Amino acid sequence: MTETLDIKITKTSHSRLAQTDFNNLPFGKIFTDHMLLADYADGEWKNFEIVPYGEIGLSPAISALHYGQAFFEGIKAYKHSDGTVSIFRPDKNAIRFNKSAERLCMPALPEDIFVQSIAALVDLDRDWIPSAPNHSLYIRPAMFATDPFLGVNPSATYKYMVLTCPVGPYFSKTLRVKIEEKYTRAAEGGFGYAKAAGNYGGAMLPGKKAVEEGFDQLIWTDGKEHQYIEEMGAANVMFVLDGKLITPSLDLQTILDGVTRDTVIALANDWGFPVEQRRISVAEIIAGAKSGALTDAFGAGTAATIAPVGSISYHGEEYFLSDPKTREFSQKVLHTLDGIRYGRSEDPHGWNYIV
Ligand code: PLP
Ligand code: COI
Repeated sequence: MTETLDIKITKTSHSRLAQTDFNNLPFGKIFTDHMLLADYADGEWKNFEIVPYGEIGLSPAISALHYGQAFFEGIKAYKHSDGTVSIFRPDKNAIRFNKSAERLCMPALPEDIFVQSIAALVDLDRDWIPSAPNHSLYIRPAMFATDPFLGVNPSATYKYMVLTCPVGPYFSKTLRVKIEEKYTRAAEGGFGYAKAAGNYGGAMLPGKKAVEEGFDQLIWTDGKEHQYIEEMGAANVMFVLDGKLITPSLDLQTILDGVTRDTVIALANDWGFPVEQRRISVAEIIAGAKSGALTDAFGAGTAATIAPVGSISYHGEEYFLSDPKTREFSQKVLHTLDGIRYGRSEDPHGWNYIV
């Protein structure tokens, strides 16, 4: 059933668009003119409004701050050369949004309301969407608990908001990654599959240590033995080993069910390229890196897009992979994905939601 969403719109009287330097768009630091807000109270979502981007007043006792009842999503909108604006697969994010909500004891938002609210904001700020190659509008929906109450109980009230940022590439270079063997991002039975704020907070110290050691990203491993590959800090991880696309399966619920991951798998299936979603041991990846059977490795994520891995470090050894420009699979994925997202080629799966 499609409900039509009523949104009160208050436009800014001071657009910042003309003063924004579109040649310099650090990720997530420049916000468009407007944002969307809504409240959950008395068992329903209400007060959907688009207002000028700015600060919001909150009680210092909200349980999101104290107990982490908070999660988010990441989506991108693209501008085609004829001015058409599309949002990439927001229906998938709507489903994941509600999976995160359920795991954190938070209320669901009807999927069509989620998509309509995002489309309304993107439409109003459509002039902010960059059209340069590899540029897009990053969309950040989020939900957090707003009860000013220090008991450890699910909040009765929540805020939903959507922020948007014009962005360029999240990673500007080929990634030097390290396989993490000490810290754990998520354990079986935990909430690794949710896009919970706490998953990111807990990953910051290991991530910072890796950066201090000269790495760009971690590859997380399982919490029990640190012998099986999970995902990266901000993307799923995918490999081409022995001519097959392999990526960790979602079965254990420790990793995010990435929209980009799903998209890459769908493209591989379209091409008849063999795909395996399964447990992947660190040992087989290292053996493949040594023998040359590992011909591709990349992060797959909304912000990250397709981010090539240049080297993998394990037990103090660094294993270098081939030059990303020569990699057949990820180059084809990038080319095909860009063609669809920027409206240059057919969209046979109906992934573009046209605004
Ligand atoms: N894994 C983590 C931890 C992430 O933060 C992201 C980014 O959203 C992904 C995977 C990739 O998910 P998606 O392709 O839906 O952006
Ligand atoms: C995304 O790709 O949307 C992410 O969530 C990654 C990061 C910016 C947290």
